Amino acid sequence: MDHFAYQNGVMHAEDVPLPVIAEAVGTPVYVYSRATLERHARVFREALAGVPDKLIAFAVKSNPNLAVLRVLQQQGMGADVVSVGEMRRALAAGIAPGLILFSGVGKTAAEMAAALDAGIGQFNIESEEEGIELAAIAAAKGMTAQCTLRINPDVDAGTHDKISTGKADNKFGVPISEAGQIFGALARLPGINLRGVAVHIGSQLADLAPLEAAFVKLGQLVASLRSAGHTVTHVDLGGGLGVPYRMGEVLPAPAEYGAMVARVTKDWGVKLIFEPGRVIAGNAGVLLTRVVRVKRGIKDPFVIVDAAMNDLARPALYGAYHHFEAVAPRGGRMTANIVGPICETGDTFAMGRECDALAAGDLAVFRTAGAYGATMASSYNSRGFVAEVLVGGDKFAVVADRIEAGAIMAAERVPEWLA
Ligand code: LLP
Repeated sequence: MDHFAYQNGVMHAEDVPLPVIAEAVGTPVYVYSRATLERHARVFREALAGVPDKLIAFAVKSNPNLAVLRVLQQQGMGADVVSVGEMRRALAAGIAPGLILFSGVGKTAAEMAAALDAGIGQFNIESEEEGIELAAIAAAKGMTAQCTLRINPDVDAGTHDKISTGKADNKFGVPISEAGQIFGALARLPGINLRGVAVHIGSQLADLAPLEAAFVKLGQLVASLRSAGHTVTHVDLGGGLGVPYRMGEVLPAPAEYGAMVARVTKDWGVKLIFEPGRVIAGNAGVLLTRVVRVKRGIKDPFVIVDAAMNDLARPALYGAYHHFEAVAPRGGRMTANIVGPICETGDTFAMGRECDALAAGDLAVFRTAGAYGATMASSYNSRGFVAEVLVGGDKFAVVADRIEAGAIMAAERVPEWLA
């Protein structure tokens, strides 16, 4: 459930009419709802009530906006980060260093050193090579890094190929078949305390079965590590729970996920860590856009909006579906191709989509844009970076300025020797 709904025929974010935001900030603009973020954080937490010892660390990559992170910090969340840039955002939002986890296959030596200096809570090591390097860096500083080893369980998450991470040929984690031997080798090193294992098999999972299969394999690995004499106190179960993008679509609820986790892990005797992203932020944001013009087509008309693939990349990258509707529907319907202004055919949000009838100047929204939306924006076609707004009740604030194309150009120069 989210807090984007029609009041008197006009879509509001909580108590703020979207046209008021469009007027004040311009379009395109991402609009997030604080009450929705809080609700999703609470629902996820309550779903895991059956797990006694846990840390819920928001996947910052899904929405790294500082104000969004602050809302989630106030909900008691930690942060899962994959770069020093994300780590600095989590810290700036007030998330305690001890609640920050560092994932990712390509942590550089400089990033590992910065994360150690910041005192972050855990590194999820993704290879033997990385573990050896981290151990050396930490030992040289006289520090001990708290770590888990990320396992690739060879489970097909059944989601889009580009966001699957747990198959044997994906770059993430160490093969489960070699996990015992690599764990043993790394556990001996000074500079790291290898205290557990981690897994993340993919994103936008529409089925709990692959997650359960991965968790069961992880439980067997924990048992075999223990019988080999290792101490295992932490298991990171990653993120990945899908959200509905289509109206009426039904996905496994957080409560079902929580019940499955509690059942599978009940005898593990570890602290469990979760890294949810999309399920917290996805339906807490919309991309508000204005129709530039409607162009006749051979079959269906083209509704050309002022948002484009540089602002919301998911349809172009993954063929993703984002529900599209008018901010102030007049009652009629149309079938249209919904496209942005960018000069490539990939800049298409939907083909042959039935939607509210729209005309030039009308406002519309792409829903479920709170996760992997603004954070994946680019300045392609010199369009600048899209602005972001947070609504709370009847208040709203610009929480990320629009970065105009001119500001980006100002960081470029023509060398003297070209003049
Ligand atoms: N933990 C790790 C190690 C991850 O790689 C990810 C996402 C998450 C947690 C959070 O997953 P979530 O709960 O949000 O599914 N750009 C793509 C999604 C990429 C996900 C990358 N990793 C999209 O727009 O669908």
